[in-house]
Amino acid sequence: MARGLRVTTTMTLSEPTLSVDKRLRRAAQVYRKVGKDYAGSLSVGIDLGTATCVIVVVDEQGTPVWVDSRATAAIRDGVVVDYWGARDATASLKADAESALGVELPRAATAFPPGVDSSDSRACQYVLEAAGFEDVRLLDEVTAANLTLGIVDGVVVDVGGGSTGVGVFRDGTLVALDDKPGGGHHLDLILAGSLGIPIEEAEKLKRTHAEDYLGILRPGLERVAESIRSLTRGAEELDVHLAGGALMIKGADQVIGAYLKRSVRSYPNALYITPLGIARHSS
Ligand SMILES: Nc1ncnc2c1ncn2[C@@H]1O[C@H](COP(=O)(O)OP(=O)(O)OP(=O)(O)O)[C@@H](O)[C@H]1O
Ligand SMILES: [Mg+2]
Repeated sequence: MARGLRVTTTMTLSEPTLSVDKRLRRAAQVYRKVGKDYAGSLSVGIDLGTATCVIVVVDEQGTPVWVDSRATAAIRDGVVVDYWGARDATASLKADAESALGVELPRAATAFPPGVDSSDSRACQYVLEAAGFEDVRLLDEVTAANLTLGIVDGVVVDVGGGSTGVGVFRDGTLVALDDKPGGGHHLDLILAGSLGIPIEEAEKLKRTHAEDYLGILRPGLERVAESIRSLTRGAEELDVHLAGGALMIKGADQVIGAYLKRSVRSYPNALYITPLGIARHSS
């Protein structure tokens, strides 16, 4: 154990004291900056995403106290394509969190996309173990997203860099879960192709000026909407809740709502919804 670090004890999370929106705003505020006034033991989530690996540390009330991320190409749609790259990113996220918080973080949870089989989901677990976590819990990313959102009857969608995961919840139970290709990277490809610019430039432009290019991005957003439609047959009456970074584009929720002709709810800093829920699973 690193010197000077306390070990956090196992705990049960209480009901969150802050609303969903407030917890998501807090997640952005504590990005590489330790949150003040946190209560009790800490709980860790690692999201091994296609675009980024994210760590979220929450307190007993589910309030984020530390968030950090690494851009990585080590994971593709839940499949670990560069094991050592994923391990290094995770180990460095763990070390920086421990050093900032002054505690040892021996336990964590991680999540896999709906379409991933058990051997690939175990690879995510092995990455965390190789990075130094002694006790690792696994769950699917849509269930993780709903640990943050707490939807009882509704459709929870996680649109990340590469894929769109869709879960249908009824009476608080996940009754259908699947995913389809299509996410933020596809929006980059559309923008880059349409404007004749490199993908890296399109990615930057999308994050800063997406509303100026909504017309160009619309077919990509409608493709995501079509995935939601085809994966929620028989659940058309349920509201759709949008998680994941790819739809953090002003107006994206309206495009999707208009295509689906149903009520769509978006959230601030939606890219933290799934990692926050993963952290709640680790306690
Ligand atoms: N402010 C923003 N505006 C627009 N898009 C954004 C913004 N922030 C992040 N994104 C996009 O979100 C995507 C990454 O989202 P997220 O972090 O949820 O994915 P991931 O978990 O890495 O991927 P996956 O879940 O598919 O494995 C990227 O395509 C990125 O361009
Ligand atoms: Mg993701």
